[in-house]
Amino acid sequence: MTFSEAEKAAIASLASKIAGHADAIGAEALERMFLSYPQTKTYFSHFDLSSGSKDLHSHGGKVVKAIGNAAQHLDNIDQALSTLSDLHAQKLKVDPGNFRLLSHSIQVTLAAHFPNEFNAVTHAAWDKFLSIVSCVLVSKYR
Ligand code: HEM
Repeated sequence: MTFSEAEKAAIASLASKIAGHADAIGAEALERMFLSYPQTKTYFSHFDLSSGSKDLHSHGGKVVKAIGNAAQHLDNIDQALSTLSDLHAQKLKVDPGNFRLLSHSIQVTLAAHFPNEFNAVTHAAWDKFLSIVSCVLVSKYR
């Protein structure tokens, strides 16, 4: 799937804004996911999931950095996330339905932190972007 120039601009602009706050944004998105959809906690029983924990910051930072990497490779997200795709499909075996829940939690976090940037156009572009990222991460299940 391809992105229009307007979508690319909306993705790049917000991606550059969150890059410097990856841990905090990621931790908040995870915390929102765990609170709103408690079933997602089952994959993280080895983590300290209390609000603001080191585990949330560290893992949240990794997730947001991976999204930042995908944002820099919009024409080739498959390849950019290939290793992560193997990990989620073959080792972690995360149920594919959970990706929509994390994508939603990320978008709520972005809207809360960047209310001016997160207008309808940017919202739609990020929704499309995160659903493509999710498709790539669930593409290797067998
Ligand atoms: C690990 C990204 C969705 C569960 C990871 C890692 C990254 C990542 C970067 C670390 C890989 C490493 O350490 O080499 C993403 C992205 C997602 C996504 C970009 C979607 C936008 C999910 C979802 C779940 C999940 C929806 C489950 C609800 C896990 C688990 C780990 C992991 C359990 C291993 C954590 C650990 O033990 O350190 N993910 N992930 N991921 N992910 Fe995801």
